[in-house]
Amino acid sequence: MRTKLNWIAALILCLLFAAPAIDAQTAARGRKVDPWWKRAVFYEIYPRSFKDSNGDGIGDLNGITSKLDYLQELGVNAIWITPCFPSPQVDFGYDVSDYVNIDPMYGTLQEFDKLVREAKKRNIRVILDFVVNHTSDQHKWFLDSKSSKTAAHRDWYIWKDGKGPNEPPNNWMSTFGLSAWKFDPTTNQYYYHYFYPEQPDLNWRNPAVEKAMFDVTRFWYQRGVAGFRLDAVDTLFEDPMFKDNPLLPGTDKFGRPNTQEKYNKKLPEMHAALQRLRKVADEYDAVLIGETWTSDVSELKDYYGSNFNELQLPMDLLLTNLSLSAPVVRKHVAGVDAAGGWPTNVITNHDIRRSYSRYGDGLHNDDIAKMMADFYLTLRGTAIMYYGEELGMENSDATKKEDVKDPIGVLGWPLEKGRDGERTPMQWTSGTNEGFTTGKPWLPVPLSAKTHNVETESKEPDSVLSFYKRVLELRREEPALREGKYIALNESDPNVLSYLRQSAKETILVVLNMSATRQQPNFDLTKQGFAAANSKTLAKNAAARPDGELKTVTLEPYGVYLGKITK
Ligand code: GLC
Ligand code: CA
Repeated sequence: MRTKLNWIAALILCLLFAAPAIDAQTAARGRKVDPWWKRAVFYEIYPRSFKDSNGDGIGDLNGITSKLDYLQELGVNAIWITPCFPSPQVDFGYDVSDYVNIDPMYGTLQEFDKLVREAKKRNIRVILDFVVNHTSDQHKWFLDSKSSKTAAHRDWYIWKDGKGPNEPPNNWMSTFGLSAWKFDPTTNQYYYHYFYPEQPDLNWRNPAVEKAMFDVTRFWYQRGVAGFRLDAVDTLFEDPMFKDNPLLPGTDKFGRPNTQEKYNKKLPEMHAALQRLRKVADEYDAVLIGETWTSDVSELKDYYGSNFNELQLPMDLLLTNLSLSAPVVRKHVAGVDAAGGWPTNVITNHDIRRSYSRYGDGLHNDDIAKMMADFYLTLRGTAIMYYGEELGMENSDATKKEDVKDPIGVLGWPLEKGRDGERTPMQWTSGTNEGFTTGKPWLPVPLSAKTHNVETESKEPDSVLSFYKRVLELRREEPALREGKYIALNESDPNVLSYLRQSAKETILVVLNMSATRQQPNFDLTKQGFAAANSKTLAKNAAARPDGELKTVTLEPYGVYLGKITK
């Protein structure tokens, strides 16, 4: 009996001493540390337009490397570079002719390695753009594919006989105008292209295609790339029966009958393929960002995967299309929150009118730009900025068809002017060509570049740039802004969007006047646990409020207020 007791005592002692050790170990191994991409702010770079280092008027990788200090100081953690691979540039890089190299116009693989190394020194990760749906018609896979019906790569693309003489296989339309089928006389068959004819769709039902494409990602991961933005994922698969799409009333901007893209978009097979691509990404701790167009925010769920095993960051692109109205925005944010995943907030990109021009009213443009910055950078989620957004860069569309570079603008003029306007050169200085190039810039720089540029705005404490820097700094300093809950306030206010971001220890109040009139919202945070709340200003623009007891905030048109709440 005695020995048994001793033995039990010994065991208890042993457990007592061992337990903390085990706990510490499990904690170290399994502690829930947020992955880097949840805390990061991403910055999209359109390489043609960021910084030209050799005077040919086109931006390049060395140009990007030379501006890493700027990006670090701005406070971004990752850059997404839109396609910089060899390409005939029909769609400015989204027609890739070699996935594992750099286009000589942008530099070399060695220069790319240098960019990654230099970025790493500044804690900036590099994300590339993976054009998964299609290649260039100049890619060696396609050149082989079209050469004969028995070519090794024939089945890497989608080839079909026409319905009859001069009749494509079905009524599917290219999103860039005309039929989605192009006849090729070499083999008397049609190939399918959802985008330009120079962008034939890959056949993702062929396992060899999947393998080759997955290997592309490994190539770049091994070179230090931290993830990919996946281009046009919704069109990866087509219905195997190639049925006609149902017709809808009316015509589109190219004057074609509207159709419902039932058989060539968002097929469920896409999700399985993306989940397999995610497995490869996980081997490298990489992140996958999706170009995910949804018709309703609840659809975002589909892209996270049932076990969060698909895309970590499906972009909420509906956010690029909201009207500037507190009730509209409030409803949208609540919907995204309810979708359950980690949101990816983005207000513009290289395909969409710049937000400065979309929302600007001609009177309060800079205030609106600051308000929008405060909005998408303080929402729950990861934010993706677009180069120049932080300056208040505006759209600068061509005024004559002859000047248009983007082929959809040539085809669709004047209804569709193309996307040149949102892709103009980054505005670095107020000097010649805004410091972008010593040569002739490939697209003209807007007039407003004289006032809205890095050099000028860096010196002005009230500039859009200084405001961006302040908000990005707060995101770094305040855990509540990164990981806190989103709590909507004053939900029936028609003009002012107000919310709290709240973590275990901190509460931050965000107040955004989305109207052109002065507003004075009142606050009562009793329900949120603050019977008498005090607020200390963290950032503001066109707003007034002395620190101390929080009752109201006075906001001029489009004013913003950010405060730290204490009891
Ligand atoms: C995506 C890109 C766009 C490109 C298209 C075809 O939508 O963002 O720029 O033209 O895919 O690759
Ligand atoms: Ca260049």
